Amino acid sequence: MRRPILAANWKMHKTAGEAADFAAAFLPLVKDADAVDVVVAPPFTALDRLASALAGSNVALAAKNVSPEPQGAFTGEVSVGMLAELGCRYAIVGHSERRTLFGETDGFVARKAAALFAAGLVPIVCVGESLEEREAGRTTAVVGAQIDGSLAEVPAERASALVVAYEPIWAIGTGRTATPEMAQEVHAFVRERLRGRFGDAARDIRIQYGGSVKPDNVDSLMAQPDIDGALVGGASLDPAAFARIVHFEGPGREPSGRSGRPS
Ligand code: PGA
Repeated sequence: MRRPILAANWKMHKTAGEAADFAAAFLPLVKDADAVDVVVAPPFTALDRLASALAGSNVALAAKNVSPEPQGAFTGEVSVGMLAELGCRYAIVGHSERRTLFGETDGFVARKAAALFAAGLVPIVCVGESLEEREAGRTTAVVGAQIDGSLAEVPAERASALVVAYEPIWAIGTGRTATPEMAQEVHAFVRERLRGRFGDAARDIRIQYGGSVKPDNVDSLMAQPDIDGALVGGASLDPAAFARIVHFEGPGREPSGRSGRPS
């Protein structure tokens, strides 16, 4: 069974002080969430402070971007080594905002993912179609090409650790979520594509859904067989809302959030 992974993508929100306040409110709410992976990705400027606040907890730290280069004359960039030193275990790469607003290509995302794996971090690789692409019936063509291109440099032996986030662009920050069935359809397609690339490891790869995930829709999304987690923007800024998402309820899951594992 794949271990659910619930990740907060704070985008360009929260100062270091606000991140520390979030941790103080959030950690007590999720301290018993021992059957899921919980991840928070703050802005770079809050990583150090949040790392201290999360030390010894069950919540992991992530970055929201990284350079594929190890060091050098790359003004404004941050390397994997810098993230590793601060205790980051994950980094989000290829978010649609990076792709559309900052011109990131699949090839660039692939190099970032490879650099993260090489340093022992886990990439959360984002893919997803625009509304125009969906309405033109091109969802699987677009997502399939993003999967192929963005994962081109993932070492086969590390593939099972990979996290992929399917985020339909039209659902991000719009309050318009994909229905669980629509999301599942694409997730199943993504897993098949991953199987073609990585074989049996595709069974272990966690595929998150992202795009207006909220406390009131997380349960039905997480009930889908190929939805293994959520990448959450807006609703992750509030400790109580993100804690409710971490404690999603569903088949095989007790209301406490302690999963259906035998104890
Ligand atoms: P949202 O953002 O939850 O605010 O829609 C999700 C994301 O962009 O990762």
